Amino acid sequence: MIRVLFVCLGNICRSPMAEAVFAHQVREAGLATEIEVDSAGTGDWHVGQPAHSGTRRILAKNAVEYNGRARQIARRDLSEFDYIVTMDDQNLSNVSAMGEGRAKVVSFLSFASHMGLTEVPDPYYTGNFEETYELVTAASEGLLAHIREEHGL
Ligand code: 4NP
Repeated sequence: MIRVLFVCLGNICRSPMAEAVFAHQVREAGLATEIEVDSAGTGDWHVGQPAHSGTRRILAKNAVEYNGRARQIARRDLSEFDYIVTMDDQNLSNVSAMGEGRAKVVSFLSFASHMGLTEVPDPYYTGNFEETYELVTAASEGLLAHIREEHGL
């Protein structure tokens, strides 16, 4: 099993959206038995809460299922996951500061360089869940292609 963890700050807007969209693409590719997906936040303010209403709304609009709850990233995640995929530079440096593990820590938008951004804008502040959804969808496609190639799937 290949394990992928998406990470943002609060685990209620961007990383749950990424988890849901990527898992949806994985299911559509018939790879659900090969790739497992989860998400977490570097912060603990929203632990136990469902995703933000804006994230739930845009996922429902696109018929992407999600019913996860927020959790905070833990030290063991660095060993238990193969890929830790961060939404912005702050997430990347916070995760890197936790130490080293088996996981490759990678920036999500590095898999969608044609989109012209290096950080996923946070709709918690921008209010623009559509923009974030488009970026997340493009980067998920790139990440899935990358993993399929790396693992011969
Ligand atoms: P996220 O957005 O990192 O995409 O889940 C945020 C959610 C909550 C907060 C910040 C960002 N917050 O400060 O509570």
